[in-house]
Amino acid sequence: MRMTGISKYPALTRFLHWVVALMVLATMPIGVAMQQDGLARPTQDLLFILHKNGGVIILALVLVRIAWRMATPAPALPPQTPDWQKRMAKFVQTALYALLVVMAVSGYIRVRAGGFPVEMLDAIGFPAFVPRSDALAETAQRIHALARFPLAALIVLHIAAGLKHLISRDGVFSHIWPPLGR
Ligand code: HEM
Repeated sequence: MRMTGISKYPALTRFLHWVVALMVLATMPIGVAMQQDGLARPTQDLLFILHKNGGVIILALVLVRIAWRMATPAPALPPQTPDWQKRMAKFVQTALYALLVVMAVSGYIRVRAGGFPVEMLDAIGFPAFVPRSDALAETAQRIHALARFPLAALIVLHIAAGLKHLISRDGVFSHIWPPLGR
């Protein structure tokens, strides 16, 4: 990532940030809700379809975001920002990208190794790439269930930092806002 004198992230970065944020905030509770006992079958099926296919779209968008973020300039934090805050922001943002990839890939492997469909990909004939294996499905399921805790913790930290910037009007929130336009 190159730091420059620009005052905002490029429009595509801002747009992808807010689309992925909304999708992740919907996907996590759906992932928990779809496993509750007593759900009507059609409701459960719909939640699974939304979760699995939404998760695959998140993965694709996060990979585009990572590539695009590395290729484009980023606005610098205000010069008075303490070093620990700069390091913390970098750590949280990098870990968020990494955990989103871990989450989506483990979910995908869990489903494919378990022999289940990913409707959107099956419809276009996209190959599974993952062998059918109960042991692999179980390991991926464990990773998927565990990774949600650090992911949720980082999302809370990230939102708290964003709100702090919004309230203190130090100009950092407008690096990533608005999602569309200049
Ligand atoms: C960044 C994307 C994703 C996030 C944030 C996410 C989040 C979650 C969460 C929080 C749960 C509940 C875990 C639990 O209660 O144990 C869950 C469960 C689940 N997720 Fe995801 N998920 C994502 C992507 C995917 C993808 C791409 C797939 C499959 C294509 C998938 C398939 C599943 C399945 C099948 C479950 C039920 C647990 C099981 O029986 O294995 N997820 N997910």
